[in-house]
Amino acid sequence: MHNTRLCGIIFHGDVTMKITKQKGTRDIILEDTKIWQYVEKNIRDICREYNLNEIRTPVFEATELFARGVGDETDIVNKEMYTFLDKGGRSITLRPELTAGVVRSYIENGMMSQASPLKLWYIGNMYRYEKMQKGRYREFTQFGLEIFGSSSYLADIETICVSYELFKRLGISDKVELSINSIGCETCRKKYIEALKAYVLPRLDNMCDNCKVRYEKNPMRIIDCKEEKCKVELENVPMITDYLCDECRSDFEKVCNTLNSIGIPYVIDKKIVRGLDYYNKTVYEYTAKDLGLAAGGGGRYDKLVETLGGNTTPAVGFGLGIDRIVLLLKEYNMCENIGESADMYFTIIDDLAYPKAINIVNEIRRRGYIVDIDICNRSFKSQLKYADKIKAKYVCIIGEEELKNNKCIIRNMNDGTQSEVALDVCDIIKGIER
Ligand code: HAM
Repeated sequence: MHNTRLCGIIFHGDVTMKITKQKGTRDIILEDTKIWQYVEKNIRDICREYNLNEIRTPVFEATELFARGVGDETDIVNKEMYTFLDKGGRSITLRPELTAGVVRSYIENGMMSQASPLKLWYIGNMYRYEKMQKGRYREFTQFGLEIFGSSSYLADIETICVSYELFKRLGISDKVELSINSIGCETCRKKYIEALKAYVLPRLDNMCDNCKVRYEKNPMRIIDCKEEKCKVELENVPMITDYLCDECRSDFEKVCNTLNSIGIPYVIDKKIVRGLDYYNKTVYEYTAKDLGLAAGGGGRYDKLVETLGGNTTPAVGFGLGIDRIVLLLKEYNMCENIGESADMYFTIIDDLAYPKAINIVNEIRRRGYIVDIDICNRSFKSQLKYADKIKAKYVCIIGEEELKNNKCIIRNMNDGTQSEVALDVCDIIKGIER
């Protein structure tokens, strides 16, 4: 054991010791990568079909963006952020969510001058210092959509259509439940919070410490407290839906009626208030019932652009947890036969055959086929073993004799049948399409 200094930091112990991944992070490898690619492909297809624009923003932002954007009384900002001073003394935070970053980018890049409404989607990693459990990580990935410039309930519906469509295409729409609510606008919320506080005050002594803090700083979060003793006290708590102004009530009814008429199933859950401060009016969550986890959440946030220094701009969006979606696909065995294996593996018995073979292989690859070739100079037997392991559909064999006669043998790895064809791109392709 000794101490070593690397990059100015003293490390205790053996420098040759194995370095392992950080708590709450995962390597996405091999078969799992194929499931991720499958989900991402479906996301990209849907976003293309809905005519949405992709946005990519930095992984780290000024800490103030999240304090102001997400709300400095939220658990995310208070307890879960990866915040540090950079070498220039700036307070930096690894993004715990992407809505605030997208809004910052929308304002900073003058995107309000683009055709409105502007619909921006993303897939991005984010970071929250959370207690780990199945499906809850410190680094995780969301697919999100943010729509700027429409105050119509139809924009809320569009975000629900996009998110629901992903679950549908992946075959898991019946494994997630969509719950929606309205948390009203500033006007209805002011009246509601008065009523809520009046109800909670005489019961506060029996409630958890978190609720005592929430009572002062963020009373609406009391509603979704998971502590048993708080749930008992909150049995007859007034609900925001009973305090909605005419406009908020009518918008919420329109959202519900439209979901009914387009056949997207949902339940109204008056307890949904969401864990981020920027929401107003429609809010919703997708719950993976059997996993007991939220697969996604979203809603309207009409004041956030203004809060972050832009012009008043209505906005609505969602974020779905891709890690949890992958977990669901695995849980329900919905990912068998996902991913592609090689159409063909080229064995070369003599490396003199390599120059000719690689030119043919590259041309077949250019035509869209997945082709692998020996790069180890291994024995024919080892090459066949490898082709079998990677589940290649066909093997193309070029021995000395074949090279001399400008021929090759194509073996179907499924049934073992073989055929001889000319050593020519078109003939080989015909051979594997037979
Ligand atoms: P959120 O509810 O905090 O909303 O997160 C959205 C989804 O991200 C969750 O429903 C869950 O699937 C996933 N997620 C959150 N934390 C973790 C974690 N620790 N591990 C794995 N998955 C996680 C937002 O972030 C909002 N920005 C969504 C939004 C966009 N609202 C409007 N626009």
